[in-house]
Amino acid sequence: MQINGSTQLFAIVGNPVRHSLSPAMHNAAFAALSINGVYVPIEALDIGETVKGLTSLGFIGASVTVPHKETVMQYLDDIDPTAKAIGAVNTLAFDRSSGVATRVRGFNTDWIGSNRALEDHITLQGSTALVLGAGGAAKAVAFGLIEAGARVYIANRTEEKAFRLADALNCKAVKLSEIGSITAEILINTTSVGMEPNDDQIPLQPDVLPGFTVVMDIVYAPLETRLLREAKACNCKVIDGLAMLKYQAVEQFRIWTGQEPPAAVMHQALLEGLQG
Ligand code: ATR
Repeated sequence: MQINGSTQLFAIVGNPVRHSLSPAMHNAAFAALSINGVYVPIEALDIGETVKGLTSLGFIGASVTVPHKETVMQYLDDIDPTAKAIGAVNTLAFDRSSGVATRVRGFNTDWIGSNRALEDHITLQGSTALVLGAGGAAKAVAFGLIEAGARVYIANRTEEKAFRLADALNCKAVKLSEIGSITAEILINTTSVGMEPNDDQIPLQPDVLPGFTVVMDIVYAPLETRLLREAKACNCKVIDGLAMLKYQAVEQFRIWTGQEPPAAVMHQALLEGLQG
């Protein structure tokens, strides 16, 4: 890669951000399509100042990650309606086309990433899904499922948060202790349960797993979580945490470049990045 005066600048802004796999993914995609672009991690303490900085330095696009996905919204000129509905932005595009003031636009590609990861394995329209967790990731995942025509249940350790999120999305909540009473084809873990170093943990009682057709975990370290291992043993189709990570980035790449993203190259870069 040769960096020169025409190199387009992209970033991931968050805190912490040093171990993000996104630079490996996007830089591999730029190289594969011979795009003169570079994508760097930026540790952002003050997201308002960071957006101003990226704007004045001529950045073309940025990913936004923890803890700024919600607070960044107040610093943007335009917010895509779906990002507004989810209440979180994970993608910025700096529109410099007018030649006057740059417009900073916000999008959410997390829900598209989740849907595409699932759609590789199952039709969402008319399906029923159980989402574990009630934080930001759960909201994007549940929103996507509802958009695609699935019936959604939400369950969470703090039950009140599950009921609040279900109210906001106009779907149903269920207590963790009552999961056995519902029938759903799809299970998605959006909590951090099972993540290293606590990889012996599982976010629900494993005896309910045989009831699901597809089980997806958004945890990707380890790649095969205890949830996925036990689901596989019950003959469920399993989807690891790299799938959503890849597809949310694929959609970002499409927004920034207008080109068809090289998804296989991005997946390979993720795998290599994980191996460190
Ligand atoms: P994110 O934006 O990644 O979704 P978050 O908003 O902090 O992160 O949400 C984390 C989710 O993981 C929550 O649903 C949280 O449950 P609580 O609402 O009860 O806190 C869930 N979570 C985290 N650690 C957990 C644990 N040890 N057991 C069960 N749920 C856990």
